[in-house]
Amino acid sequence: MIDIRPMQARDRGAVLELADRLTVGVASWRAPELVLRAVRSWVSGDIDKVGEELMIYVAAEGADVVGFVAVTEDTHWTGERDAYIGELVIRPDLERQGVGRQLVRAAELWASARGLRRIRLSTGAANTAALSLYGALGYQCEDVTLSSGVADLRDRADPDDPDRSTGDRNHDKGAPAEAVTPTSRVPGSPGHRRP
Ligand SMILES: CC(C)(COP(=O)(O)OP(=O)(O)OC[C@H]1O[C@@H](n2cnc3c(N)ncnc32)[C@H](O)[C@@H]1OP(=O)(O)O)[C@@H](O)C(=O)NCCC(=O)NCCS
Repeated sequence: MIDIRPMQARDRGAVLELADRLTVGVASWRAPELVLRAVRSWVSGDIDKVGEELMIYVAAEGADVVGFVAVTEDTHWTGERDAYIGELVIRPDLERQGVGRQLVRAAELWASARGLRRIRLSTGAANTAALSLYGALGYQCEDVTLSSGVADLRDRADPDDPDRSTGDRNHDKGAPAEAVTPTSRVPGSPGHRRP
């Protein structure tokens, strides 16, 4: 039996332990050690901010925390106030049992209780499980983030020559060049931070 409830101080360690799962779906060209450090810092930072402006709900099975979601308010670039799902994690052995769905619903209820009209999040384009979950819940793709490697041309004689070759644009991590297909990414947006 899974219980969804607000996080309590005693849940801190268990929530932090789940943070590493947030590396799932991050672009392969991002440095793993930086990704890990970032995701851990998001979660510890959010735990420290829990209160009126930020809420963490945990999924508990008895005394065990098996998942959590962090939700806060965030200003969209239009100036609208949205709810924002910062992190959502389910323990791997309990995936596909509807826990993620329940936690997202808890975040939506929090948003609704605050009079917010929209909830958004950002996730990695390679995060198929998260994209499927949010797609199943009716979330729509609103923005897309694109990136490319930049060739190191600093030793070229004329850096302002527009005709020079740009080389392999994904040279940094050997990632394949991918076509830009904005509509292929279902939910997610270029929020300010999340994978
Ligand atoms: C993404 C994640 C939160 C999903 O949690 P979950 O508890 O497994 O999701 P649910 O069981 O509630 O799934 C609900 C629906 O989402 C879709 N879905 C979830 N995971 C899926 C997967 N791996 N493949 C395909 N569809 C999936 C399905 O439609 C599913 O319904 P169904 O099982 O009846 O087919 C979980 O996989 C996770 O913790 N991943 C690692 C961390 C992460 O990526 N977090 C999201 C960052 S924004």
